[in-house]
Amino acid sequence: GDVIFSGIQPTGVPHLGNYLGALQQWTRMQNDAAPSTKLLYSIVDLHAITLQQDANQLRRWKRETLATLLASGLDPDRCTIFYQSTVPEHTELMWILSCTASVGYLSRMTQWKSKLALSDQDSALDFASIRGKLRLGLFSYPVLQAADILLYGATHVPIGEDQTQHLEFARECATKFNRAYGEILVEPRTILSTAKRVMSLREPRLKMSKSHQDPRSRIQINDNPQLIRDKIRVALTDSMTGVSYDPANRPGLSNLLDIMSYLDNQRRAPEDFARLYHAMSMRELKIEVTKSITEGLASVRDKYNSLMESDGGRFLDEVGMNGTIKARREAEKTMSAVRRVIGL
Ligand code: TYM
Repeated sequence: GDVIFSGIQPTGVPHLGNYLGALQQWTRMQNDAAPSTKLLYSIVDLHAITLQQDANQLRRWKRETLATLLASGLDPDRCTIFYQSTVPEHTELMWILSCTASVGYLSRMTQWKSKLALSDQDSALDFASIRGKLRLGLFSYPVLQAADILLYGATHVPIGEDQTQHLEFARECATKFNRAYGEILVEPRTILSTAKRVMSLREPRLKMSKSHQDPRSRIQINDNPQLIRDKIRVALTDSMTGVSYDPANRPGLSNLLDIMSYLDNQRRAPEDFARLYHAMSMRELKIEVTKSITEGLASVRDKYNSLMESDGGRFLDEVGMNGTIKARREAEKTMSAVRRVIGL
């Protein structure tokens, strides 16, 4: 049967990009899945520590991320929802994959470069010139991600566009391993979200991100209506008159129209919203955008708040612990085959 796997880093309260680009799709896949389909969603705390985190804050973020998954509609009885670090097989498989993975491939990937705040061009500069600053964990991040996926024999991995390179690498890891040891690991398919790239409200040529230092660059799923209004009011647009959809020349405005279309489940395209509001001023348009985000997130926010406030987090902890038990049972199946063919 099919196995669906995906992950999210607990490095802040998830934002509108995570919700539209990932969590909403995870929920949709859950609701459409055949009964035989397995669904696993992991809060990848080991990935989160490639940049050092404050321990108490990381613990808080993990719980907030779990609450967001449930608030988005994931059902813990249907899905296996768990913290990555509670299933040690992830790091075990990572080591094994490291033994067949290529350093050349990893050095061409873009994420470690952007985390070191180098542009793509600078980084073509090369690996040798910055390797003093580059931590091994950040560099091998994609190997751990490949392990996450291959550990469960995932057939389908739903993601936003920024993760496509990591998925190609995961397939490469499976191929390399299988060529060396026999057909054990499954090559996963990428399921690219329709809302594949929600942009920053402050710098609309960059993606919306949990780790950007300006909190006004993103809408968190728990932002209240006033906060949403304030962030949209200062969202960067342009001074041209009227409303039109033109991502190349009007990226800020076009991102707002994209968001409205995503929140409308793409019944209407961004061009339709542009036509509908073509004569509006930016100020008027932003009132409409605020309304659509506030309404689109209302039920997620309410559910999130009630999960966070209810019983001192006992329910969330219980969901996490049950997830660990179910995930380890699945992980053990792959790992025993892997250990056997290697001779461990
Ligand atoms: P992360 O935590 O950055 O993001 C989680 C999911 O949200 C999507 N996403 C976006 N989609 C649209 N617009 C945006 N602005 C936006 N920002 C984030 C991401 O594409 C992702 O699907 N390395 C992964 C976590 C991971 C993982 C895995 C994912 C670890 N192991 C195995 C899939 C399978 C990450 O940092 O996602």
